[in-house]
Amino acid sequence: MKALVITRFGGPEVLELQQVPDLRPTPEQVLVKVEAGGLNFADLMTMQGGYANTPKPPLTAGREFSGCEITGDATNDESGGRRVMGYTQWAAFAEKTAAHRNLVWPVPDNWTAEQAAAFPVTFFTAYFAYWKAGLLAPTPDPSKDKPRARVLIQAVAGGVGTAAVQIGKILGIEMFGTSSSEDKLARVKELGLQHGINYKQRDYVDAIKDLTHGEGVDAVFEMLGGEHVAKSVRCVRDFGRVIVYGAATGETPQIDTRILYAKGASVHGLWLSYLSGNRPLMESAWKQLSEWLAAGKLHPVIGKVFPLEEAHTAYTLMQEGKNYGKIVLKIG
Ligand SMILES: NC(=O)c1ccc[n+]([C@@H]2O[C@H](COP(=O)([O-])OP(=O)(O)OC[C@H]3O[C@@H](n4cnc5c(N)ncnc54)[C@H](OP(=O)(O)O)[C@@H]3O)[C@@H](O)[C@H]2O)c1
Repeated sequence: MKALVITRFGGPEVLELQQVPDLRPTPEQVLVKVEAGGLNFADLMTMQGGYANTPKPPLTAGREFSGCEITGDATNDESGGRRVMGYTQWAAFAEKTAAHRNLVWPVPDNWTAEQAAAFPVTFFTAYFAYWKAGLLAPTPDPSKDKPRARVLIQAVAGGVGTAAVQIGKILGIEMFGTSSSEDKLARVKELGLQHGINYKQRDYVDAIKDLTHGEGVDAVFEMLGGEHVAKSVRCVRDFGRVIVYGAATGETPQIDTRILYAKGASVHGLWLSYLSGNRPLMESAWKQLSEWLAAGKLHPVIGKVFPLEEAHTAYTLMQEGKNYGKIVLKIG
């Protein structure tokens, strides 16, 4: 079968479309005829220098997909099964992939394959960020006794960012988000973001101080690394939480934990690759996400779709940080 292979560590030039042997799913896995794949920042890291617990090259790229379950004989090209979207650690960007049966979910009837491929990583990650922040209980009416919770979402116009805005809107949260681009911020505001902060024009710590009248936010969703973990702590109010889940700048996160003392602030980690092995947790997350899906409240935001043959361009776009929402590869 045809697959996008990372031939060695490096830039997008190391990606090659190759013929690879068909997969042999284990009894716990389902085999899927892939129609589309969602590109994630983790795919860049896997290509550039490896990603924790991922085999070294050569290996087939990709960690999320949509398609049709192949029922019956695995060598048969006919799929015939239900439409699914799924999550795996690698090998999703191929004509067929195998994923653990607990990590494939039914596709909403009215969704395209591209929308479905853009769902799993971003929406589960964003959901778990609210969970780690202790903000899943809705606060829809700010006039009632409980004030509206506030969250700062870094890279708000990205894949996880646009998912976090949609969930935050459902939860009645006042959201602040950073981006390098006015155009991207304007588009995220249409999704429900109330306060956009262009970090090229203004330091976000100062902006949060002004916009919250010095109070700060309840939580920051932080995925930039470097100096941004400590800066995010400066944005929270007393007992606020910084949820760290990435280092998109490529810089090692810097934090002197003594800055946490005064506000009783805390920093929490989040890694979907690890949490995805926790079946009860994933089931409870899907229970809530699927209710919101059925109510038509969640819509993956897709910036660009590329054919698999143009994967180099898709990876380059993500590497340059120019994407809005998700980048999707059309495979089937
Ligand atoms: N821990 C987990 O389980 C988990 C799961 C999913 C994702 N993540 C992490 O979450 C982050 C977002 O992932 P994503 O796939 O949704 O990507 P993304 O947000 O779609 O893309 C990254 C965005 O980060 C912003 N950015 C700021 N500084 C950057 C820099 N120096 N280089 C590149 N981008 C920069 C850019 O937006 P602006 O131009 O608007 O600033 C860019 O579009 C990544 O760090 C990823 O590793 C972690």
